[in-house]
Amino acid sequence: MNDNTMPAKALAGRAALMPKMLHHAGFVTHDAAATVDFYSRILGMEFVSTVMDDRVPSTGEAFPYLHLFFRMGDGSTLAFFESPCMPPPSKASHPAYDVFNHVALAAASREEIDAWHQWLVKNGVETVGPVDHGIIYSIYFHDPNGIRLELTVTTDPSWIEHPLEARRDLDDWIATKARAAKEGQNTETALLELIKTKKGDMRSRGIKIADELHDK
Ligand SMILES: [Fe+2]
Repeated sequence: MNDNTMPAKALAGRAALMPKMLHHAGFVTHDAAATVDFYSRILGMEFVSTVMDDRVPSTGEAFPYLHLFFRMGDGSTLAFFESPCMPPPSKASHPAYDVFNHVALAAASREEIDAWHQWLVKNGVETVGPVDHGIIYSIYFHDPNGIRLELTVTTDPSWIEHPLEARRDLDDWIATKARAAKEGQNTETALLELIKTKKGDMRSRGIKIADELHDK
């Protein structure tokens, strides 16, 4: 029996080892000053600590750096490293990388999201949204490092109560890719067909799919 089929009861003993919350997520910056200004002045986080060293403690590699920490309301932090030895990053191979890779930060209400929207616009930050996803309500923008950020509030607390559907969707995704490969079919075409069959189920979970948010 592997993890995928292990009954919930058998997993109960492992719950104590579940990660408790975000401790920190780390990213690269090429402008520590702009990063501190953005996260403390614009996003209202507390600039709570730094580390400066000439080597990376975990690996011993000789990358001199300044490490910055910003604390959020629950005590979790976002962290950044500036190092003089790093050239700018190479461009992503597909624009979706810059959409899918993102960090979502929690707000307390839809009203707060609307207030955030106004605040960010007032401070010259380009935003997308608010977007009502049915289960969450979000705005999107970028930090000075090009990291895509989302501010969001849950509007349907059941949105993370679909483990059976999640497992089935994953199985269908994997099986569709395998079938396409075996039959010599284009993988994207096969997955687009699968996605079509899933739209009703997505709606039944309260998710507003893109068809409802954008003109076709
Ligand atoms: Fe998101």
